[in-house]
Amino acid sequence: MPPRISGRLLEAARQLVAARAADDLDEGRLEAELLYAEAAGWDRVRVLASGAEVPDTAVLGTFEALLLRRLAHEPLAYILGRREFYGLTFEVGPGCLVPRPETETLVEAGLAAIHEHPRARRVVRAADIGTGSGAVALSVAHHALEVQMFAVDASSEALAWAGRNRRRFGLEERVVLLTGNLLEPLGEPLDVVLANLPYIPSDEVEALPEAIRSHEPHLAVDGGADGLELYRALCEQLPTHLAEGPRAVLVEVGSGQATFAADLITSALTGQQAHSEPDFEVRYHRDLAGTRRVVEVRQGY
Ligand SMILES: C[S@@+](CC[C@H](N)C(=O)[O-])C[C@H]1O[C@@H](n2cnc3c(N)ncnc32)[C@H](O)[C@@H]1O
Repeated sequence: MPPRISGRLLEAARQLVAARAADDLDEGRLEAELLYAEAAGWDRVRVLASGAEVPDTAVLGTFEALLLRRLAHEPLAYILGRREFYGLTFEVGPGCLVPRPETETLVEAGLAAIHEHPRARRVVRAADIGTGSGAVALSVAHHALEVQMFAVDASSEALAWAGRNRRRFGLEERVVLLTGNLLEPLGEPLDVVLANLPYIPSDEVEALPEAIRSHEPHLAVDGGADGLELYRALCEQLPTHLAEGPRAVLVEVGSGQATFAADLITSALTGQQAHSEPDFEVRYHRDLAGTRRVVEVRQGY
């Protein structure tokens, strides 16, 4: 009897687990279904409903080729060419970090900081530093009509993905893309600064899963000796780029880095007001796993 689609998918799930491209059979099965859906031009529901059918030979050939790429640890999102993030579908591929679910915490907190900003009835000037695919900048601009967004990245390859996504969501007028180091390319005073910069300590990069280590950009991952080097540099630049009056800085961090990052930001802000009472408020936002993932410092709200 010829093999059925469901049989091939179960076998693919076992291959993915054996290659350590998936943690368990459930994850392997889901990935195999998504790859088959991509090969067939179907959605996943149709793959599930067609399990008892014999696969089309051409579709099976395409599926095998996609599966080989995944078995070689290419990220699933690169193979599919897209990733869902904050309810939008982003185009992604080599050269940009695949947006992670925990970064939705930064978008959520950033939107609140913008909506509650005293300028919110006019235009809030915000920046997303280390924009990559544009995940944070574009999600925020899509949901906050009052924002003028500047999105910066040191990598022109990453910015090319942000440019594709900006076009995809029709946000050319409200999101400016800039190449450069942190806040340096920005001339405009900023009311809100958002950043998901690399925060993995250098000596932990080698221990990351192969899909990240071998395929995602090193520039998007390595945060220097203690993981906070980019945030230190960002904080040095904050005083000259933040607007006078109410402002907020929100950064995504790794487990155990939240209070260090809060100290860096508050020191940068108090440096500017050495002779008056500090008027800032520090907030920590937890991700779905309960980790303090986003540090927010508001001043003068
Ligand atoms: C962790 S990724 C985040 C990407 C995207 N914001 C997201 O959340 O999916 C960090 C990004 O910072 C960029 N980056 C690294 N160093 C930078 C620097 N000095 N100035 C600007 N961007 C930088 C990387 O190219 C990368 O796109």
